[in-house]
Amino acid sequence: MKVALLEQPGDETAFKIKIKDIPIPTPGKDQVVIRLEYSGINYIDTTMRAGKLPGTSFPIVLGCEGAGAVHKVGEGVTDLAVGDPVVVYAFGTYGEYLLTDSWRVFKLDKTSTKIAAATLINACTAQFLVHEVFQIKEGGIVIGTVSSQDKIQVAQAFVAELTNGQGAEAVFDAVGGPLLDVNLSLIKPGGVLVNYGSLGGPLDVDEAKVTAQQVGKDFKRVGLGVTITNRELMLPIYKPVKDYMDSGKAVVNIYREYSLEEIGQAHLDLVSRGTTGKLLVRLAGTG
Ligand SMILES: NC(=O)c1ccc[n+]([C@@H]2O[C@H](COP(=O)([O-])OP(=O)(O)OC[C@H]3O[C@@H](n4cnc5c(N)ncnc54)[C@H](OP(=O)(O)O)[C@@H]3O)[C@@H](O)[C@H]2O)c1
Repeated sequence: MKVALLEQPGDETAFKIKIKDIPIPTPGKDQVVIRLEYSGINYIDTTMRAGKLPGTSFPIVLGCEGAGAVHKVGEGVTDLAVGDPVVVYAFGTYGEYLLTDSWRVFKLDKTSTKIAAATLINACTAQFLVHEVFQIKEGGIVIGTVSSQDKIQVAQAFVAELTNGQGAEAVFDAVGGPLLDVNLSLIKPGGVLVNYGSLGGPLDVDEAKVTAQQVGKDFKRVGLGVTITNRELMLPIYKPVKDYMDSGKAVVNIYREYSLEEIGQAHLDLVSRGTTGKLLVRLAGTG
């Protein structure tokens, strides 16, 4: 089987991926092997590729979500059978086959592997943020991120207008460092800043907590990967996402499908911020 192996960290321009042919793994107890059709590409892949996620060791096969069909099941796996279409939430999806723990694998019925691979992490993150981390109440208003200085003032005025000058109850932030003060200024006293990404630059979590406390607000740094460590925790998040995907109402904008050999280009495209929609790796078994 082919995998995209990254031998050492590097920036996207120096990103030399090696396509390696290795034997298809054999599942052990409570494990399965998935024949992947699509892998999603996420920002976290670029962070790991750059060696900026603590604990990442090299060589590594990147990628943390994918979809395909069950190829082999290990001892003790009773809810999955060879050939079942599945979506998987696990590291190592930039390859044709993936060996993983069965709790990370979810059977698909109405949703295609392409839509599932393009939806899983983004939708589960949104579900996690607004239901588990800070529950948005019926009628709550969600306001998105802006990416330039001149738009900040517009956003501030908009939040003030929508909240009658009180500020928002919560801000969900994926930009991090440079927006700390602006984000805190948008939140009402006692409200919470939830940070889940550092697209704009590193954020010192301890410092952010202290800064937030000084202005009477709360700060939380959260992550799906570090929180969701078993199936029991994943199911309440995945179930509504699955229902949403199966409803056919999900609008999924796929920016481009890349081959394994084109992953360097895909990372370059993602971090260049010229993309709109989901980037996918197309793997074996797809037309
Ligand atoms: N903690 C978790 O569990 C978790 C899970 C999923 C994602 N994440 C993180 O969340 C972040 C967003 O991921 P995503 O999949 O939602 O990405 P996405 O769909 O590509 O959206 C990124 C958004 O952030 C904006 N942006 C990018 N770089 C920026 C910068 N330097 N300053 C201000 N805005 C910037 C983009 O604006 P433009 O369109 O103008 O570029 C775009 O609106 C990433 O850091 C990712 O690692 C965390």
